[in-house]
Amino acid sequence: MSITGPGTKLSGREFDVATVRADFPILSRKINDHPLVYLDNAATTQKPRQVIDAISNYYEQTNSNVHRGVHTLSIEATDAYEVARAKVAKFINAPRPETVIWTRNTSESLNLVAATWADKNVGEGDNIVITAMEHHSNIVPWQQLAARKHAELRYLAAGKDGLLDMANIESTIDSRTKIVSATHISNVLGTVNPVAELANRAHEVGAVILIDAAQSVPHMAVDVQAIDADFLCFSAHKMLGPTGIGVLYGKYDLLDEMPPFMFGGDMILEVTYEDAKWNELPYKFEAGTPNIADAIATGVAVDYLTDLEMDNVWEHEQQLTAYALDRLTALNGITIFGPEDPALRGGVISFVHDKIHPHDLGTALDQQGIAIRTGHHCAMPLIRSYDVVAAARASFYVYNTKTEIDALVSGINDTERYFVR
Ligand SMILES: Cc1ncc(COP(=O)(O)O)c(C=O)c1O
Repeated sequence: MSITGPGTKLSGREFDVATVRADFPILSRKINDHPLVYLDNAATTQKPRQVIDAISNYYEQTNSNVHRGVHTLSIEATDAYEVARAKVAKFINAPRPETVIWTRNTSESLNLVAATWADKNVGEGDNIVITAMEHHSNIVPWQQLAARKHAELRYLAAGKDGLLDMANIESTIDSRTKIVSATHISNVLGTVNPVAELANRAHEVGAVILIDAAQSVPHMAVDVQAIDADFLCFSAHKMLGPTGIGVLYGKYDLLDEMPPFMFGGDMILEVTYEDAKWNELPYKFEAGTPNIADAIATGVAVDYLTDLEMDNVWEHEQQLTAYALDRLTALNGITIFGPEDPALRGGVISFVHDKIHPHDLGTALDQQGIAIRTGHHCAMPLIRSYDVVAAARASFYVYNTKTEIDALVSGINDTERYFVR
């Protein structure tokens, strides 16, 4: 098997992991006297110096409110904020920048669609289809909406192989389906779901599709037009950007007809004592002073990823995932969830040890500087469907190496020697 390491040639140009790592100050930290091995990237990623600098530069040089002032700082801040939006639009191939709405995160984007488009379009007797492998953020808003509207919430089942059961797609997504909301890549199983196929079926029955791309946009080239997404959302903090900012992409005509999500400054065109008229897109959905610094820094994160080239990012993670699957499968007592074939999954590996509780494993690994995630991964129904209440999860990104996977494996071995006698 070919392994990615410093200087390894990936598709396209050089992708030098050592050079990438040098951009991330936190990676030189020691945790419990060991070099940090950060394998919790599905939760949030680390930030390169360029993104950190963009935030401090903004506050040192440009800080001002946007869309309001005629003075130089306000004009510069507005320009930088809108340039960042245009970069995000280009990154996902959105046809126009105003179809990119800044939100706080994926959760807010999902809630926005549930509270506006779906609130307006879902009625009694209709159904909403999600999958059995959703994050709580893509379950709870739909449970609430279904209860409020007396609509049915349906789940497209997932098999024990970690794949969606597409054989039932026609009976699950039917003429009463108004919206299909599905994760592109599962944050637990790593499964890459066939979202274009889901979009196709949704459109056949006149429904819309919302894609939770929190775990895909950071890791692979995603083209909203190619998959024909009606809505798609993700968080900047999972793609080298800051916390507190996310994106909702929507088709222009859908966004244009939707009622606003929140009310206040900037989202209005005109206000009288009696009434108000809504602003044009994207501002209709951006009430109040937005997260200007972090939007600009998100643009810099997009530049960073664009420079690496997303096909290289994906290939790097594919190689790491294949290597990690090989090494973890060779250990005794480990059960890995999700598709066996690395080609069907992204860089997320959840597993359990038959003798060590995930929390014990996570704590013991932390003593060796290795950060993994343990728990239900905000997907309780899915985790429970595997008859466990918690799992350990290692997830990879652009700065991870094969050596770090070796450290994880030897960390598990060391923990085993301590716990299993
Ligand atoms: C698939 C998926 N959807 C939604 C979310 C929620 O993202 P956020 O917490 O940034 O809103 C996550 C976060 O882990 C996720 O992995």
